[in-house]
Amino acid sequence: MSTIIRLAEERDFDRIMDVEKAAYEKYLQAPIDVFEFRYHIHPEGFWVADLDGEVFGYSTCMRMWIDPKFPPKTREDAIGYFSASDGKMHGLGLHHNPEGNTLYGMSTAVHPEYTRRGVGTQLIRASQRFVIDNDMDFRLAGLRMAGYDSHCKRTVDMSAEEYIKLRDYTRDGQPYEGWQRLFARNGFEVLGVEENYYPEDIASRGYGLLMLWQNKRES
Ligand SMILES: CC(C)(COP(=O)(O)OP(=O)(O)OC[C@H]1O[C@@H](n2cnc3c(N)ncnc32)[C@H](O)[C@@H]1OP(=O)(O)O)[C@@H](O)C(=O)NCCC(=O)NCCS
Repeated sequence: MSTIIRLAEERDFDRIMDVEKAAYEKYLQAPIDVFEFRYHIHPEGFWVADLDGEVFGYSTCMRMWIDPKFPPKTREDAIGYFSASDGKMHGLGLHHNPEGNTLYGMSTAVHPEYTRRGVGTQLIRASQRFVIDNDMDFRLAGLRMAGYDSHCKRTVDMSAEEYIKLRDYTRDGQPYEGWQRLFARNGFEVLGVEENYYPEDIASRGYGLLMLWQNKRES
């Protein structure tokens, strides 16, 4: 049994939707037409994790241009977004640019039965490999901060900016926030936190986190 990361195909959509429904709370789930749209505009940036023919994870990305001197501060600046609350796409894909210097991760998910086995990391690395192979500059990620609310309730209330500075020194000194830790381990750095990222996302108190990885070309 071995996991491979491969490009998505149309036949994978039913299984991708199973992963979406299992991985995200209902109000964060994207409908199938959003995945079809992403596949349609950028199939080269849509990967799945496949274990002996069974898809149990996916990652969708699109290309955009950012000015290295003025990286975006919000997801809406970067790419637009899908809102589950009104069921509409807000600018999604309008900025997809086949010549873009940056790969933006629209969504990544692994079925909960398969998490914490390195599959999310493999999907992120596939996207970084794409950036390198296409001589691009950046991989941009917009993340939930899904440990934020529970941490404040367990300990003490703090701002989102304070929360993302927390480190887990009982382990490896990496960021305390799980989603942030995953990307930090893969070389991403924080650009900033964003209020009203997903207002419906109670676990993140509606906040999101933008992180950037730079393709440091060998000279
Ligand atoms: C985020 C996600 C894709 C990670 O996939 P994965 O296969 O578990 O990732 P890996 O095994 O490569 O890395 C594990 C790391 O991911 C993070 N992570 C995974 N599951 C997590 C969870 N339930 N809570 C917090 N962090 C989590 C942690 O940093 C973890 O490291 P740790 O084990 O040292 O805590 C997966 O948990 C998922 O699909 N979550 C729900 C969907 C989602 O919110 N996706 C958006 C990401 S912004």
